Amino acid sequence: MFKKKGMFKLGMLLTASSLMLAACGTSESDTKVSTSGDAGEGEKITKIVAGTEATFAPFEYMNDKGEVVGLDVDILNAMTEELGIEYEIRNVGWEPVFQQVQNGELDFGASGITITEERKETFDFTEPYHEATQVLVVKEDSSVTSAEDVKGKKVSVQINSTGHVAAKDLLGETNPDIMAYENLPIAIQEVINGTAEAAIGDNAVVFEYLKNNPDAKLKVIEDDAFAKEYYAFMVKKGNKEVLDILNEGLQKIKDSGKLAEITGQELE
Ligand code: ARG
Repeated sequence: MFKKKGMFKLGMLLTASSLMLAACGTSESDTKVSTSGDAGEGEKITKIVAGTEATFAPFEYMNDKGEVVGLDVDILNAMTEELGIEYEIRNVGWEPVFQQVQNGELDFGASGITITEERKETFDFTEPYHEATQVLVVKEDSSVTSAEDVKGKKVSVQINSTGHVAAKDLLGETNPDIMAYENLPIAIQEVINGTAEAAIGDNAVVFEYLKNNPDAKLKVIEDDAFAKEYYAFMVKKGNKEVLDILNEGLQKIKDSGKLAEITGQELE
């Protein structure tokens, strides 16, 4: 939940805190300032809380100090610096990002999340900050040369990712050849093990994996059959307050050239 600074009337403060106490059954002082919509005019958000799944280098991963680092973190650092607010990023896991943004435990998702029509039914997205696409990753000696070639073969993906959707499009919605795992590195490991013929995942992340695992004997297959995708930050549908502030921050770092510097990509 985000925090705000502003002129609370005592009554409002009491109402807000008793509501929070009722809702959460906790008297923890850190999270009770406000939730979406219960703050008055002129109050400013001072802190926002993001959720991520940090096995997704170069966008988010854990360094050896146990901190979440990566391009998404660099982007958030630059945005919040421009905005003069604080943020926190929690490594909660992939599916929990969606659940916790929806139930208000998190203000937003920052996890290399692709804008999709299906997700838009439940969430709102900021302007995009990165372009991506799906690729196949197979063993160096695999006979697979295109997306079509994986039909009839076992394919591993990160569950409920756009790679998972791509696999369903190729093989059929309920095809048991599709094996879905908690994160992309596990899905790729199944190719190394020989359990799956191919994994499908986001291009930059797959290339980074190969770079970091030069002995894995894998190769990447790109195919125009995979559509372009755009990453954005994701809020609960209707959470205009957080959406606006994120878009403001993004716009600032687009204008200053900082975003392109971080991602190495020009997005118009
Ligand atoms: N871009 C893909 C999607 O939105 C995969 C994102 C996975 N992100 C992660 N941090 N594991 O479905």
